Amino acid sequence: MPATRKNSRQWFERSQQSLVEGVNSPSRGAAVFSPGPIFLERGQGSHVWDADGNEYVDFLMSFGALIQGHAHPRLVEVVSQTMAQGSHFAAATSAEVDAAERLRGMVPSAEVVRFTNTGSEATMLALRLARAHTGRTKFLKFEGHYHGWYDPYLLNAHSHAPERLGPPENPARMPDSEGIPAATFDDVVLAPWNDIAALERVMKQHGTDLAAVITEPIMANMGCILPRDGYLQRLRSLTQQYGALLILDEVVTGFRYAPGGCQEYYGITPDISTFGKALGAGFPVGAVVGPRSILDRMRWSEHMVLHYGTFNGLRLTMRVVAANLDLLSADGAYQKLHAVGNAAIAGLREVFRRHRMKAIVQGFGPMFQIYFTGREAIHDYRDYCSYVDTGLYSRFIHRLLDQGIYMTPSNGLHWIISTAHTEKDVAVLIEAADRACAGLE
Ligand SMILES: Cc1ncc(COP(=O)(O)O)c(C=O)c1O
Repeated sequence: MPATRKNSRQWFERSQQSLVEGVNSPSRGAAVFSPGPIFLERGQGSHVWDADGNEYVDFLMSFGALIQGHAHPRLVEVVSQTMAQGSHFAAATSAEVDAAERLRGMVPSAEVVRFTNTGSEATMLALRLARAHTGRTKFLKFEGHYHGWYDPYLLNAHSHAPERLGPPENPARMPDSEGIPAATFDDVVLAPWNDIAALERVMKQHGTDLAAVITEPIMANMGCILPRDGYLQRLRSLTQQYGALLILDEVVTGFRYAPGGCQEYYGITPDISTFGKALGAGFPVGAVVGPRSILDRMRWSEHMVLHYGTFNGLRLTMRVVAANLDLLSADGAYQKLHAVGNAAIAGLREVFRRHRMKAIVQGFGPMFQIYFTGREAIHDYRDYCSYVDTGLYSRFIHRLLDQGIYMTPSNGLHWIISTAHTEKDVAVLIEAADRACAGLE
């Protein structure tokens, strides 16, 4: 249990002089972690240590990137060997072929692959490809879905007070960032998610103008919200009917629920899929995959879809990707992720039941979220904005941080299980949650 965070406080004071808000992403700073972030210095397996030497079980796992936990011995070996020979050549390498071949072997819709450096770059490229392929410019995004920080995606990705949301059939349009020309959003059709009737309505109105519909298969940026039965399948059939491409944003879900991500789990075939996070096991990478008929538009020609990048296919990362996908392809990897995650979910539900707290744990296996709510389930953005006590969640997580559990106090993220997590980690979590619930209000 952390005795003190004196060093974290000192680093935070110092970081204010040189970094905006003392961090490199607002989700890591004092707006989320109060009174300031914990400075992490070391990680091993499922555990991290902060600048004061306090130890935590890590359930944030770099926002899901660390599917193999920290400093996995095989990845340490691969990185050391690769570095010794040169980290990157910005040239054709066998490393990127090895990585792409493994990815194709796991993801059913991946006829061809293009690697990027982040999930945001992957979703940017996916939209450009969809526009070039269809000759249309508009696209549909759903309320509360986050697809990276590219201008046109930054509409209603943040939560807002319920009275600001407007009617579901005509949602109020709220940009998430300053500095984006208002005209950017003229091409964005916004709709509520997980509602087949609303989807049919909006597709009837806009379907033939849409280059693409982009969706997260499991909504992962308002916690963890599962698609209703048949929703993704209906989305697939409607996009086909209107000639709009379906972009499945698997940046969070990819390589997490199944070797082939949610498209394998739910049995749908998107036109374009985007990956990131778990693909790189802690190294920055993204990928756009799909059929040749679409991705070949990037082939060099006068009319090509341009995608450059000094760091695309970084040799070091590609070697990590290949080794990571080999580890994930080993027998039992996904069974273990699911078993450990389901044990954590069951244990947390039991804790909340014992403490008579109005709380649900939503999701399954390797990714889930806790909502303090009187509802039986949270089905979409509007439910999240209206019925979830995010303040109570933040207080709960701050108590857990004091009990040696590392997690973000932001309710919009989700708990992550890596292959490094064990039943013992789950037991530590359940005991800590039990203590954190006592007198929580
Ligand atoms: C669903 C989804 N898509 C895209 C992104 C962007 O990925 P990155 O942060 O690697 O740019 C994220 C990041 O959280 C995400 O959750």
